[in-house]
Amino acid sequence: MSVLAIEKKAGRVYIETYGCQMNEYDSGIVSSLMQGAQFETVTDPENSDVIFLNTCAIRENAHAKIYGRLQSLGYLKKRNPDLIIGVLGCMAQNLGEDLFHQELPLDLVVGPDNYRTLPELIQKIRTGKQPVSLTRLSKIETYDEIEPRVINGIQAFVTIMRGCNNFCTFCVVPYTRGRERSRDPQSIVRETQDLVAQGIKQLTLLGQNVNSYQAEGTDFAGLVRMLLEETEIERIRFTSPHPKDFPLHLLELMAENPRFCPNIHLPLQSGNTKVLADMKRNYSNEEFLEVVDRIKKTVPNVGLTTDIIVGFPGETDEEFEDTLDMVRKVGFDMAFMFKYSEREGTIAQKRYPDDVPEEVKGERLTRLVDLQTAISLEQNLSKIGKTFSVLVENISKKSSKEASGRTTCGRMTVFPIPEGKNIESLIGTTLNVQIKSATSATLKGEVV
Ligand code: 5AD
Ligand code: SF4
Repeated sequence: MSVLAIEKKAGRVYIETYGCQMNEYDSGIVSSLMQGAQFETVTDPENSDVIFLNTCAIRENAHAKIYGRLQSLGYLKKRNPDLIIGVLGCMAQNLGEDLFHQELPLDLVVGPDNYRTLPELIQKIRTGKQPVSLTRLSKIETYDEIEPRVINGIQAFVTIMRGCNNFCTFCVVPYTRGRERSRDPQSIVRETQDLVAQGIKQLTLLGQNVNSYQAEGTDFAGLVRMLLEETEIERIRFTSPHPKDFPLHLLELMAENPRFCPNIHLPLQSGNTKVLADMKRNYSNEEFLEVVDRIKKTVPNVGLTTDIIVGFPGETDEEFEDTLDMVRKVGFDMAFMFKYSEREGTIAQKRYPDDVPEEVKGERLTRLVDLQTAISLEQNLSKIGKTFSVLVENISKKSSKEASGRTTCGRMTVFPIPEGKNIESLIGTTLNVQIKSATSATLKGEVV
């Protein structure tokens, strides 16, 4: 009986995900699509018939990682010549068929708008024994009705829009993800209701540019309001907005509604107006500060995080100092900081030579990281004595006697598990935690 069941299966698929949260979400979509085509998803590449690497292209080392991983998977292919290995995601879209010309163990290259065809393409490879690639960008694909089955404890991600129209000169996303498209708000509400029914407490709305969300006459704030009104999700977060368009009514909604977490990831990229113009970010140094000012005035206890690039082409020492200055003025809670890396096909690659020496990029990054670490510590120390509502996510990584979770403003918080309680009963509950001490990365407190 079980033999029959196995024979019915189209095969076992193993998916490995790299890069951003949207890729995590997309891997869930691929998993749902493959299950719909009679594939079973497995967690061990050694026991699979199909291996997908869902890849990132945002910086150079993202590509390097995948080349290394493909080479290391070569031995499985030698052992089982019928094994199919595919590259999905942004690197697939970015490099397309070129990936076949590098002597890698690779059969399939499929971009983010073509996942519906995966089962069919696998069939094609199985019958034709030829490598296949499909990287056509779509103006409409949003995988609206496909609900990915990826649930990470009590939190889930939901993609609300795909693609980006901004063409920041350093960025490959408009080429790998195509133009902006928004999902139907009703399908997002339905998906959220299903997630709540499965015990999800916290939702992160994903999009390359969430403030450009626009569907059925609903803007991003309208969508958040619908989710607050029509679902029982306890916490809503989002990533990322673009600083050039941050509507006041969205901030007011955040200030009014405690379920809409006061936590904003606002990518700065550079603190110098000329570099920002070369990056085509569409805001000046002063305008960024104005947005931050408006955010802080409207949402007083907001948590602010950011992305910063050092060593963009032509960036002088003085221009870099402006970035440090800006970081001091804003006081971000946390920042993701990167050295500029030239990406194939971007405007910057065509227009500006990558002329800041690697050594200088390294020095600037170290200075920036040191500064931000000191500021993160300062921000966290300022929270000592205050009480925050913390959604318990997990056991602490460092001690089995402690639990960890996040404040609404997004700070990681650890605290001793109260006597008589166990971690299982705490996960998914919200507790008031008073902060007693802090490091640059973590708040430590006690349940009150
Ligand atoms: N070089 C370095 N960092 C980059 N990012 C995007 N493209 C590049 C690049 N070519 C960073 C930006 C973006 C984050 C996701 O990655 O800071 O906000
Ligand atoms: Fe890339 Fe700029 Fe779009 Fe962000 S807004 S995805 S950095 S092009």
